[in-house]
Amino acid sequence: MKVRKAVIPAAGFGTRMLPAAKSVPKEMICIAGKPAIHYIVKEAVDAGIEEILIITSRGKSAIEDYFDYSPELESRLEKSGKTQLVRELREIADMANVTFIRQKELKGLGHAVLHAKRFTGDEPFAVLLGDDIMRSDVPVTKQLIDNAEKYGCSCVGVKSVETSEISKYCTLGVESIGERLFDVSELIEKPTPDKVLSNYAILGRYVLTSGIYDLLEKAEPGFGGEIQLTDALNQLCRKERMLALDFEGERFDSGNICGYMEASIQLALANPEISDWLKSYMKGLAL
Ligand code: G1P
Repeated sequence: MKVRKAVIPAAGFGTRMLPAAKSVPKEMICIAGKPAIHYIVKEAVDAGIEEILIITSRGKSAIEDYFDYSPELESRLEKSGKTQLVRELREIADMANVTFIRQKELKGLGHAVLHAKRFTGDEPFAVLLGDDIMRSDVPVTKQLIDNAEKYGCSCVGVKSVETSEISKYCTLGVESIGERLFDVSELIEKPTPDKVLSNYAILGRYVLTSGIYDLLEKAEPGFGGEIQLTDALNQLCRKERMLALDFEGERFDSGNICGYMEASIQLALANPEISDWLKSYMKGLAL
């Protein structure tokens, strides 16, 4: 089994980031100098992914423009001698082979992922949710791919979250099979306290087999009246083996203002061009 393709659902309204997300796609909101989606695509590329499908919706064309060439801007920068900047812009467009599809009706994450069926065909694929920004030595997607390829099955990225937080995510029934690795037997989306299976929740990264599509096609609306990816995963893990990896790295939920601030500070600290300035600025504030 070889994972070559990735799917990035980026169609949601971004209600938790309003009013900023009213006229700018939330995936384009700037985190330490780059739009959030830049980090997601970069993670996929660094994980060895060759082709990426971004699922967008109305009002999100700025994402397509970001991964395209911009000849007018480039020639103007060229004329004023800013060749390094031109190179950087070109690198973004050349970073990956990115294609786009629109989700015309926003019927949930499962419905969005179903739009990737033609793109992936029978191949296994990674899913990276745009709100979840990772900081890790080995790309989280690579950690999942390594296990999915080794065991020849789906592998989802999990972390143990606070009991008070689990209802924001999903909960997994798991059995340990090795260091940080589990077999998955059950999943429930947005569990109420009496339904919590464990504190392990999927945090925005998945490697899935194409077996998910049949289940998504038949899926009934679940939590919030939406077609939930988790509900289809709950069926998939009963038909095929599914692993959960407690991945190494830190995850920031850039879809809400506090997580966005954390991601901005942490990624700025990780950027050698601005980290010294930021450290001395923060020291100054602490005085
Ligand atoms: C989605 C998934 C949920 C997952 C979460 C974090 O929820 O449905 O299972 O735990 O992302 O990755 P959402 O954030 O869209 O409510």
